[in-house]
Amino acid sequence: MVILQDADHTELFAHLSATSLASGAEYLKAGREALVRLLADPSFLDGVKLERIPGAYTRNLVFGDERIAVYAIVWSAGSQTSIHDHHCSCCFAILSGALQESWYEPVDKTHGVASKTFTRAAGEIACMLPTGPNLHKMLNASDQEAISIHIYGYDHRTRASSIDCEYLALEER
Ligand SMILES: [Fe+2]
Repeated sequence: MVILQDADHTELFAHLSATSLASGAEYLKAGREALVRLLADPSFLDGVKLERIPGAYTRNLVFGDERIAVYAIVWSAGSQTSIHDHHCSCCFAILSGALQESWYEPVDKTHGVASKTFTRAAGEIACMLPTGPNLHKMLNASDQEAISIHIYGYDHRTRASSIDCEYLALEER
């Protein structure tokens, strides 16, 4: 399924999808290059209807095929994910606003403890393979909306999301 209307960006994602069959390192490099291009030309979202929900984040499908799923995520002020890991590769870039990303070390199969927290500002790119456990949580700690673009290595028609397992913070035990 292709959501985008314009040929240039559809071609960009189709090429990236084909590259996902290459080695992990080669794919992550291609993912980063694709995100650099998207950051330079955010008009690729012009034809995409972005859902906005106060207090929550929304995932808006931009492109999808059998190998990759590309979402624009709109983070309202204060919205956050669970602590989670991924079953697939994940490359993301911050298009606008800023997010806080916290890494967690698992203490068992249900709980994790925070180890590091980063501010991901507009223009920042991060790419990772599903080597894990690789737990993190994303939070929009600001009072402004943030938008990020995420390229996941899964077929959105056969899986609900990129999340593998969800955890609770150790202090919630
Ligand atoms: Fe994640």
